[in-house]
Amino acid sequence: MSTPVLTIDGPSGVGKGTVARVIAQKLGWNLLDSGAIYRAFALAVESRGVNITDELALVKIATHLDLAFKTQADSELVSVYLDGHDVSKELRLEATGEMASKIASIGVVRSALLKRQQDFATPPGLVADGRDMGTVVFKEAEFKVYLTANSEERANRRLKQLQAQGHKGIMSQILVEVEARDARDSSRKHSPLKPAKDALIIDTTELSLDEVIAQVSELVKA
Ligand code: C5P
Repeated sequence: MSTPVLTIDGPSGVGKGTVARVIAQKLGWNLLDSGAIYRAFALAVESRGVNITDELALVKIATHLDLAFKTQADSELVSVYLDGHDVSKELRLEATGEMASKIASIGVVRSALLKRQQDFATPPGLVADGRDMGTVVFKEAEFKVYLTANSEERANRRLKQLQAQGHKGIMSQILVEVEARDARDSSRKHSPLKPAKDALIIDTTELSLDEVIAQVSELVKA
């Protein structure tokens, strides 16, 4: 029997990461934050000074990406190591997300990172969050969820997340960035952001985190 997979896709700032982490913990399943892979890849490209039009160089970096996820001993948070260095803080910056979104639109990059993501599907199960988990990476997943919320609410959630991590942010600026990133992620040719046909769509604008978690848990239990 293949490993059960729950995919959670949706636009930026919708809270996919938090929902995925809590559900993975509840089920005792593995967790894939695919956005962190694209973000780390963007940092790797930047640190090597590679031009994003150089597809050959991008594929080489993607193929040899030295990336590790380690759960912190004193909390459930995951630290991300790139080339042996902890890049967890840089990874969460809005500028990194923006860079990741630009690079993530390149088809050869997505292909080069595909297997690395699929390899996370190991027993007893996997919760995977991103933009194309249910449509491309785990097309055959047993459970699929697509989370949405209006852009003001998502910008607000992003601002709170940044503040909790000790970063500053300006609401109006974050709103512009969130909308620009979604427009790019939704309109790209390769693996655009969209719900899988068989996904449960949950509009979380008016829902609390607990309510969203309850709905997703219900789906997996059913
Ligand atoms: O989810 P997160 O904000 O960390 O993702 C950063 C960027 O990485 C997204 O804006 C998107 O362009 C890209 N991404 C993607 N496919 C995924 C996950 C993230 O294209 N599965």
